[in-house]
Amino acid sequence: MRAVDTIIRKRDGHSLTQAEIDAFVSGLANGTWQDYQASALLMAIVLNGMSPEETAHLTDAMLRSGERMDLSDVPGVKVGKHSTGGVGDKVSIALAPVVAACGVVVPKMSGRGLGHTGGTLDKLESIPGFRIGLSIEEFKEVLRDVGTCMIGQSATLAPADKKLYALRDVTGTVDSLPLIASSIMSKKLAEGTSALVLDVKCGDGAFMRDVTQARALAAAMVAIGARAGVRTEGVITDMDAPLGVAVGNALEIVECVDVLKGGGPADVRHVTRRLAARMLVLAGLGHDEATAVTAVDRAIDSGEALDRFQRMVAAQGGDPRICDDVSRLPSAPGVELLRADRQGYVTRMAAKAIGRASCALGAGRNAVGDPVDHGVGLLLRAKPGDLVAKGDVVLELRHRDARGLEDALILCREAVAIGDEAPAPRPKILEEVR
Ligand code: URA
Repeated sequence: MRAVDTIIRKRDGHSLTQAEIDAFVSGLANGTWQDYQASALLMAIVLNGMSPEETAHLTDAMLRSGERMDLSDVPGVKVGKHSTGGVGDKVSIALAPVVAACGVVVPKMSGRGLGHTGGTLDKLESIPGFRIGLSIEEFKEVLRDVGTCMIGQSATLAPADKKLYALRDVTGTVDSLPLIASSIMSKKLAEGTSALVLDVKCGDGAFMRDVTQARALAAAMVAIGARAGVRTEGVITDMDAPLGVAVGNALEIVECVDVLKGGGPADVRHVTRRLAARMLVLAGLGHDEATAVTAVDRAIDSGEALDRFQRMVAAQGGDPRICDDVSRLPSAPGVELLRADRQGYVTRMAAKAIGRASCALGAGRNAVGDPVDHGVGLLLRAKPGDLVAKGDVVLELRHRDARGLEDALILCREAVAIGDEAPAPRPKILEEVR
């Protein structure tokens, strides 16, 4: 089976067979497919799409390109969670200890910031001493002791996705529903959980700009999960404006701790409680919607969730005292304020521009391997719908020696709009796909 024939068939709009897809994915590893051929096929997929069957076969082939984690020696039901990525999205870090405190094991393999979006690993690494590079044995040990552990993606899980993702990143082939769905699901299925909740972000700061696209992506991933025997649900959540008020690594850890103490911004609390409750229901331990919400609230109100977080931080080498003394986290000394230039309602706080501003200050990367500054970022002093007077602070920028400040301010001015009419309230949870 020649690579060029598979490329031509997809170029001409045909469906690929399972054998063709298998040969493509294994060819990436054994060298029978060159990078330029893989790139050509990826572009043909972007332009002509894939059927649900082809997408399932591609996911399966990428899953089989590596190991599948065996968590059978970790007692308890394991439920995974994944977010398609956004700005200020710190939900995983707050949610995993909550769910663990309710008796469900949450093994979490996360990524670094990508483009304007933040990454769970970068946020966790702002905690002094925190190690995300545990061995699989150490990972399981922490799961047994604490019920949750958060590490980087293991190189042995879905290695074909790693290779393909790197090619997609530089060939303009990231934006494709079947490629995104198979990329995410091959990694999540390899993690070996029996259920999975997907937070599909939707809006200005997300891959999926509108609800129709987000719904289609969620449905594709739910179908792949079901086919693989993993109970999977998608929750579509708003990413037009950043989630919460903190954007930037250590600033977001402070917000997570606030949520675990029962406070924090209402939108972060709401999304965290909802996703945690769905994870409990999907765990199949007898929770229905109502009892799951009660269990989640109890885990937070009793301090048990915070205790799990502190134990996880300590078990991964981090300093758990950050929960009582946030001055132990890195912080940038410079403060610049962006003020409202008129009175009115905040009608827009565009997530993408705010995410880019945070990167400009040094919280994210321009290229793989760039160092990040864990102490910089932004605080939203007003959110969409808030009424502000002329001169009120709407954004607070935390910078180090004014690095990137000029660019960040330009982006922040682009991000914010103030008008006479209050915007229609936009719910944070838009839809659920089961
Ligand atoms: N996240 C992934 O892991 N893969 C994609 O293709 C997009 C987002």
